[in-house]
Amino acid sequence: MAMSGAAKLMPSVPQAEPAATAVSIQNLSVRFGDRNNEFTALSDVSVDIPEGAFVTMLGPSGCGKSTLLRCVADLVHISDGSISVFGRSPQEARESRDFAFVFQDATLLPWRNVLDNVRLPLEVGKHAQNGNNADPHELLAMVGLKGRENALPHELSGGMRQRVAIARALITRPRILLMDEPFGALDEITRDRLNEELLRVWQETGTTILFVTHSIPEAAFLGQNVLMLQAHPGRVKEFMKVDLPFPRSLAVRDTVEFIGVTAHLRRLLEECL
Ligand SMILES: Nc1ncnc2c1ncn2[C@@H]1O[C@H](COP(=O)(O)OP(=O)(O)OP(=O)(O)O)[C@@H](O)[C@H]1O
Ligand SMILES: [Mg+2]
Repeated sequence: MAMSGAAKLMPSVPQAEPAATAVSIQNLSVRFGDRNNEFTALSDVSVDIPEGAFVTMLGPSGCGKSTLLRCVADLVHISDGSISVFGRSPQEARESRDFAFVFQDATLLPWRNVLDNVRLPLEVGKHAQNGNNADPHELLAMVGLKGRENALPHELSGGMRQRVAIARALITRPRILLMDEPFGALDEITRDRLNEELLRVWQETGTTILFVTHSIPEAAFLGQNVLMLQAHPGRVKEFMKVDLPFPRSLAVRDTVEFIGVTAHLRRLLEECL
């Protein structure tokens, strides 16, 4: 019997090495305020994210999604529990620039052209002289902006600006990309296109991605796993595997399997409200 293309690509070793853990979060709690007016934003959150994984995060507004990303990035003080990033503390990971952040707003410098915005992280800190950085021209080609290197931010659409922000985030070859509703402000068609592009970028770079969204289809389409958080206090509702094969194209959203995943996520989200 002829082998399928996928079977031919299987490694000859019987079992692949298990992926290393990129981010390990154990019994994490975050409290804001003081003793008289304390607010628990996250309570007893535990999850392990393997290297190279794409994990999306869903949950009602205020359940602590951004706070969780910010804890990983060492931008929020942890009250209890621990986080390790490739076996190190978030502070050590931040100092060695293991991660990069992409926010809802691209926050480009308006007076610098596209190329110079992408190069910006190379001008600060230890990355200035680091030969391990990515080529900005290659990154711009990868996010579909070849030929727009000299454009200024105000000459770009919102989707293009977000692509510049993604290229800028990838310039130092971060091991982890933290994305907080990066496509939340875009129209649906642009968002769909960027979803497909992001999956391609992820597969080309092998970067571990933690991606916050309010969109159930986006969470299901992008994620290998969806981390669903519930509120009051913010905690894990479910860490769900999305059983849809890669590479994924937008057509997968018309399949019975995809609709089953989104229906399950919708039920979970309703339980969280
Ligand atoms: N620095 C802070 N000081 C006090 N409270 C904070 C701080 N940061 C966040 N919070 C509170 O913690 C809770 C979680 O906030 P967070 O921004 O993480 O929610 P979220 O899930 O990202 O919400 P959204 O979906 O609306 O972006 C909220 O009640 C918020 O008001
Ligand atoms: Mg948020």
